[in-house]
Amino acid sequence: SDPALIDRFGRRIEYLRLSVTDRCDLRCVYCIPEGFKGFEEPEHWLTFDELERLLGLFASLGLRRVRFTGGEPLLRRNVSDLARRVAAIPGIDDLSISTNATQLAQHAEALKAAGVTRLNVSLDSLRGDRVARINGRPVLGQVLDGLAAGRAAGFAPIKLNMVAMRENVDEIDAMVAYCIEQGFVLRLIELMPMGDTARRMGYVDLQPIKEQLRRRFGLVDALLPGGGPARYLASRDGRFTVGFITPISQHFCDTCNRVRLTVDGTLHLCLGQEERMEFRPLLRGGASDAEIVAAIRHAIDLKPERHEFREEPEKVVRFMNMTGG
Ligand code: GTP
Ligand code: 5AD
Ligand code: SF4
Repeated sequence: SDPALIDRFGRRIEYLRLSVTDRCDLRCVYCIPEGFKGFEEPEHWLTFDELERLLGLFASLGLRRVRFTGGEPLLRRNVSDLARRVAAIPGIDDLSISTNATQLAQHAEALKAAGVTRLNVSLDSLRGDRVARINGRPVLGQVLDGLAAGRAAGFAPIKLNMVAMRENVDEIDAMVAYCIEQGFVLRLIELMPMGDTARRMGYVDLQPIKEQLRRRFGLVDALLPGGGPARYLASRDGRFTVGFITPISQHFCDTCNRVRLTVDGTLHLCLGQEERMEFRPLLRGGASDAEIVAAIRHAIDLKPERHEFREEPEKVVRFMNMTGG
């Protein structure tokens, strides 16, 4: 039988986003609600052995790409050891990390040596006061040091994730200039409503901004290594690339290739839906490889057709720090 994971809508699942911790040193307004206390208990965290086994079984079913997310993934103790183990799984040829970069200066070289191939860094503003307000801590300097360390370690190109909001939309031009100068790929992201954040922060539709940038810089459609939902424009000389992630104005669910595993071993089939499957009880209850493979196939059958975000705070059962965006 075909080993590949194909869902009910014909989508091939080959990308797993692994939230290695739900904890974070920041408190981004669009991610963790104020005063949030619902962090996962450490005894529920899958161990490196459990993760290696589970990801190995996914890889036997055609999984090719893994991305570490969080919370903040670099806060998971010995994260580069986990990276080395995941990178060594046969079939996994793309291991990437999405980080806030506050601790990247200490980790960049070890991650590179461990086999991490690609790095995405969140940066919503180049102004210290705004970073403090949007991301909850005054960390701009630390993040810029982390970016420098990431580049020095040989990660290229680094993608910069900027969530567009009322508060920082006037900085897109400055961010474009910064990324041209530094050789980073800018990615503009539409705010996904989780609770009342979108309302508070002010959703910005990226379609007009995309067309404006296309005209002003003479950009053309481009493709970039990845496999995520971003759509790219690049300058004709290839020196500058900007990506757009538009879950609200133009959703990309028909080409979705991914699932998400939270630190407690729950597989979430969609970022904006509640279908899920728990693997911790199987892993800790003596399930055979064949039983786990059957559970993975069953889970993929639950993947919904498209996301539907819930703005009403009382309906949000899961915040971004749990599923890693
Ligand atoms: P590449 O593999 O480099 O393309 O990375 P990526 O864009 O898939 O990952 P990243 O962690 O950098 O995510 C960037 C933004 O895209 C975040 O805001 C994610 O929440 C969002 N995103 C990624 N995948 C999905 C998805 O399947 N659905 C939705 N709605 N948003 C997603
Ligand atoms: N909407 C859009 N992007 C989000 N991220 C976290 N929460 C949200 C949200 N509500 C982004 C972060 C990070 C990426 C992993 O997910 O900015 O770059
Ligand atoms: Fe932390 Fe990332 Fe959430 Fe910001 S978006 S609070 S950096 S997990």
